Amino acid sequence: MGKPKVVLGVGGGIAAYKACELLRRLTESGHDVRAVPTASALHFVGAATWSALSGHPVSTEVWDDVHEVPHVRIGQQADLVVVAPATADLLAKAAHGLADDLLTNTLLTARCPVVFAPAMHTEMWEHPATRENVATLRRRGAIVVEPAVGRLTGVDTGKGRLPEAAEIFEVCRRALARGAAAPDLAGRRVVISAGGTREPLDPVRYLGNRSSGKQGYALARTAAARGARVTLVEANTGIPDPAGVDVVHVGTAVQLREAVLKAAADADAVVMAAAVADFRPAAYAPGKIKKRDGVEAPEITLVRNPDILAEISAERARPGQVVVGFAAETDEVLANGRDKLRRKGCDLLVVNEVGERRTFGAEENEAVVLSSDGTETPVPHGPKEALADTVWDLVAARLPA
Ligand code: CTP
Repeated sequence: MGKPKVVLGVGGGIAAYKACELLRRLTESGHDVRAVPTASALHFVGAATWSALSGHPVSTEVWDDVHEVPHVRIGQQADLVVVAPATADLLAKAAHGLADDLLTNTLLTARCPVVFAPAMHTEMWEHPATRENVATLRRRGAIVVEPAVGRLTGVDTGKGRLPEAAEIFEVCRRALARGAAAPDLAGRRVVISAGGTREPLDPVRYLGNRSSGKQGYALARTAAARGARVTLVEANTGIPDPAGVDVVHVGTAVQLREAVLKAAADADAVVMAAAVADFRPAAYAPGKIKKRDGVEAPEITLVRNPDILAEISAERARPGQVVVGFAAETDEVLANGRDKLRRKGCDLLVVNEVGERRTFGAEENEAVVLSSDGTETPVPHGPKEALADTVWDLVAARLPA
């Protein structure tokens, strides 16, 4: 089998320079990459760069090498098309099926997964025309990653930056791995909580837990790669925002509840992967708690935090909304898991064993997914993404058509 064929479409934006890094990552990881810049992209990075980095000739128009019918062949032969940066203009052309250069022709002839990584000024990204074009492309199964937030071309900052090449590369790798399989979460909205809440005692101290957030991020990345619109509610992970995902940063259980409930209002599925503190200090000391000679250690009174998983399971924001919980157990893992599934009222519960041997923060995981219909799906030891994909398989099977 030859190398997977990737078409890298490059739009005319300042972020075109970042696409060089994406091209290099793709070729170095064994992909045969054909760069198809638009004529405006060549104002930012010249044809010689794309040709040298890809090892292929580069043209922007359909009139070069006409005997090879490139406007049809390049798209037909591709295993993946990724457009980075995708300008507002390119998104509009793709959404409306316009084909006035080699890249837009390629987008019409491609039958493989297509990834768009938009980059533009915030106003353009937020314009209703762009919003509708993005929605159209997603509905048809394209993966449109959310732009990153940060410094834009000039002194301004906001949403619209091209995500880092490494992030876009990850989305491409996943889309390629899934191959021609339709993005089964296209058009779906999902909410994922990740990380561990911290409950402040005073300005410098908190009660926390060891959750790394890696499983929640794996769920977010895989859902985005399967076409979902993802909101990730993140608590204290320190992990960079993944491409293609709206991230809400929170600290405490109460903040996490508020953010999850808000995002869940129009979500098809909610996955609670965060480790939420069951208790928080009853009182917050506005000044640092000091030790005093002759005074015993202070007592800390705890109060219960709301159980978010039980709440969203009991009051589904939409009919057919699928709710998934996680449970870390040290013993009687399956029996405790089955009991917890019933108590929380969720549809699926991912149960894994934790203990001294099984450390938090690992790259790999092993679990059993319990379902409210009684089925149990064991997931062997492996990358957290494999577990994430199994969770989405089970969620997708439960979503109403
Ligand atoms: N969870 C939640 N809100 C809480 C506590 C937990 O939504 N206040 C969610 C977690 O995100 C996870 C699931 O519930 O999906 C399992 O949490 P766990 O703490 O194991 O369940 P508990 O009911 O607290 O069970 P126990 O402490 O008895 O193990």
